[in-house]
Amino acid sequence: MTLDFAPMEGITSRDLREVHAACFPGVDRYWLPFLSPAASHQLTPRQRRDLEPGPLGRDRLVPQVLTRDPEDFLWAASALGELGYREINLNLGCPSGTVVGKGKGAGMLRSPEKLDRFLEAVFSAAPLAVSVKTRIGLEAPAEWEGLLPVFARYPIRELCVHPRTRREMYRGRVHFGAFAEAAARLPFPLRYNGNLFTPAAVQRLEASCPGLSGAMLGRGLLADPALITRCKGGVRDRETLIAFHEELAARYLAAMHPDGAVLPKFKELWMYLSLLLAEERAWKRLRKCARWAEFHPLALGLLRDAELLPEAEFSRLDQSDVQFDQ
Ligand SMILES: Cc1cc2nc3c(=O)[nH]c(=O)nc-3n(C[C@H](O)[C@H](O)[C@H](O)COP(=O)(O)O)c2cc1C
Repeated sequence: MTLDFAPMEGITSRDLREVHAACFPGVDRYWLPFLSPAASHQLTPRQRRDLEPGPLGRDRLVPQVLTRDPEDFLWAASALGELGYREINLNLGCPSGTVVGKGKGAGMLRSPEKLDRFLEAVFSAAPLAVSVKTRIGLEAPAEWEGLLPVFARYPIRELCVHPRTRREMYRGRVHFGAFAEAAARLPFPLRYNGNLFTPAAVQRLEASCPGLSGAMLGRGLLADPALITRCKGGVRDRETLIAFHEELAARYLAAMHPDGAVLPKFKELWMYLSLLLAEERAWKRLRKCARWAEFHPLALGLLRDAELLPEAEFSRLDQSDVQFDQ
């Protein structure tokens, strides 16, 4: 079973992926946050930069596209093919209000008939392998029953399932039964995603679904960047955690404004990373900082001195801090 780093828009930038891979071995693939094709069918300079393979190489990167228009998807597929990519992922999971309102991301799950027409157009012409990342429905888990036969009709390279509905965002329990149903009925490789926060949870998944092609981990890796390293028999050590933090800060500071851009990016990361510290007030103290010059010494001091927990404490995550409409 392979273990991939989930795409997280605004967080898993090229810098973060490269610094993470250099510090924490073991991640099989890093997925790129979604790319929205422009009407002009041109990649922006920013999109091009994010798509450069760098030291990871294209085979360890999975580019993802968010669109409801098959023409846009096929354009993106050929542009990515020209850049040397061999797989493109379709986003059917994004729960953001603006995205769903436009009928994209999880909004594509509203009508299985429309989704079927979209997939038909895409699979009849796609120049590269197409994988799909999906939720199990828009409003209710019962919708999954109507979506499974649609997916089953196409030669999907791999289906990654986050077994929650759009309404559930990333909250509460996952519907593991819906995932098991897909594993039993779909003819192509399946990847599981959702609430894998410890090596023990990954082991339990592997034991309960032996045929799985893999799992994808997101927030668990932000809270404990060594999570996949540990799943593969490695350890987490404080020095590497500090090196990761400092190298990422250096890269961001070289390209972005400290207070206007680096600070909000690091706050988003620390919302999760603070769950690894025994010091429960860490996040409250960090989120109050208005300047990078105030935030950085506090964050570094916490990484150097605070007790690290054996596993990140996700029960402490304050969901009201989590923004999805970014
Ligand atoms: C801030 C944020 C941004 C995300 N951006 C993307 C994205 O660009 N594409 C995507 O498929 N999923 C995105 N996701 C969903 C994650 O890839 C993943 O499915 C989700 O975090 C659940 O997995 P986890 O429980 O391991 O964190 C995002 C999630 C968060 C919290």
